[in-house]
Amino acid sequence: MISAVVLAAGRGTRMKSELPKVLHKLGGSPMIDVVLERVFAVSRQVVVVVGYKAELVKSHVERGWGDRGVLFALQREQLGTAHALSVALPLVEGDVVLVVPGDMPLLEASSLRRAVDAASRADASVLVARLPDPTGYGRVIVEGGCVVRIVEEADAGEEERRINLVNTGAYCFSRRVLEELLPEIGCDNAKGEYYLTDIVELMAKRGYKIVPVEVCPEEGMGVNSRKQLAEAYRVLCSRKVEELMESGVTVLAPETVFVDPKVEVGKDTVIHPFVFLRGSTKVGSGCVIGPFCVITDSVLLDGVEVREHSVVEGAVLEEGVCVGPFARLRPQTVLKKGARVGNFVEVKKSVIGENSKANHLAYIGDATVGRDVNIGAGTITCNYDGVKKHPTVIEDGVFIGSDTQLVAPVRVGAGSLVGAGSTITKDIPPDSLAVTRAPLRVLEGKGMRYFKRKKYGIE
Ligand code: UD1
Ligand code: CA
Repeated sequence: MISAVVLAAGRGTRMKSELPKVLHKLGGSPMIDVVLERVFAVSRQVVVVVGYKAELVKSHVERGWGDRGVLFALQREQLGTAHALSVALPLVEGDVVLVVPGDMPLLEASSLRRAVDAASRADASVLVARLPDPTGYGRVIVEGGCVVRIVEEADAGEEERRINLVNTGAYCFSRRVLEELLPEIGCDNAKGEYYLTDIVELMAKRGYKIVPVEVCPEEGMGVNSRKQLAEAYRVLCSRKVEELMESGVTVLAPETVFVDPKVEVGKDTVIHPFVFLRGSTKVGSGCVIGPFCVITDSVLLDGVEVREHSVVEGAVLEEGVCVGPFARLRPQTVLKKGARVGNFVEVKKSVIGENSKANHLAYIGDATVGRDVNIGAGTITCNYDGVKKHPTVIEDGVFIGSDTQLVAPVRVGAGSLVGAGSTITKDIPPDSLAVTRAPLRVLEGKGMRYFKRKKYGIE
């Protein structure tokens, strides 16, 4: 059985942050979630070592992964990676132990699997990468196909610093070897820490075989600073965008499009430049996402068009819906088939029925709108009385004239017509005309000419 230990007790000093490093977000989700996703794909049991702001990290992980049975080991003082692993070891049940740092969000599950396979043919394996600039990483010394030593940057001589094969910090061991050798690791080094990397030399001396498993440079990247956080996010996004293009999605300017890992997009959808697709968003096929749109945790069925500069969050857009440009859809909004929400329209927690339209400048909140309804420009549902929110119901086939206020709670019956500029404070029965309007006065000869003459004496 494979167990995994995720090292996440460190503060992440180089981030210069109050927030523990592993809780820093890469796009939508904290780094630790990206790592746990991979780790759970490969192992039956996962132990997370927490320390710095342990409660914060623990409660976050518990929320996301509690139902997968994740365990926690508390490392009160952060004395180094070997110490962190020894704190976790008593909880480990598997005979094969993957060790994964919490700050390596780019490592793929397939690489962890390769580490397990390689270890099964030797006594342990280390994931290594060849980096153009190895600064800051432990350097890996290989002899005769086996790793014989890992030397930390701070302890490396000039010659060793030139080695560009680096330790990713992810390993696969047998539990037996860890039980035997972890207690022997000392802290006689530049940082005075118990380095897990020292186990390599101890293993080599005892005749254990530890093999390197190489991953591509991008995967080998750790996140220690804000700069590396940004680089990791860029890599994660470009991987995802490439995967989408591979599966039949058109992305017109891939380097400007940001897509979170869990997002799904169907075939023949076209994504224009400067688009963000975030969280658990699902986009159907044959959709068009215009430039500068931000879509979060939403579902778009087939053939939906979101035009430029629209912001969509927590909404469901059924087949053939068209929104924007400049539309804002807030959580719990459902636009039924063929509905249309145009520019400068905000919709919150409302259902808009089939083929209904709100094309310009409106606020629709806490409303249920039937089918074939036309909501005129400047219509406002006055849903908030200063204390509570109230619902508005607009039944099928209603026509709401421009610049109308619907003071909730209120219902407009099917097939009714509301005259432009009305303030509706009572329920309107079906098939009625409702208007509230001050009578129009026309005073002939009292136009601008009259006004200028009177005020300024100008003819
Ligand atoms: C470590 C490796 C280095 C490797 C690099 C890859 C050691 C000694 N060095 O260095 O060879 O190239 O990762 O990114 O292992 N942690 C704890 N408890 C501790 C110390 C660390 O849980 O007492 C956790 C951290 O939260 C972090 C991970 O272990 O998630 C790695 O620690 P970090 O301090 O980032 O190690 P590096 O200096 O990057
Ligand atoms: Ca690190």
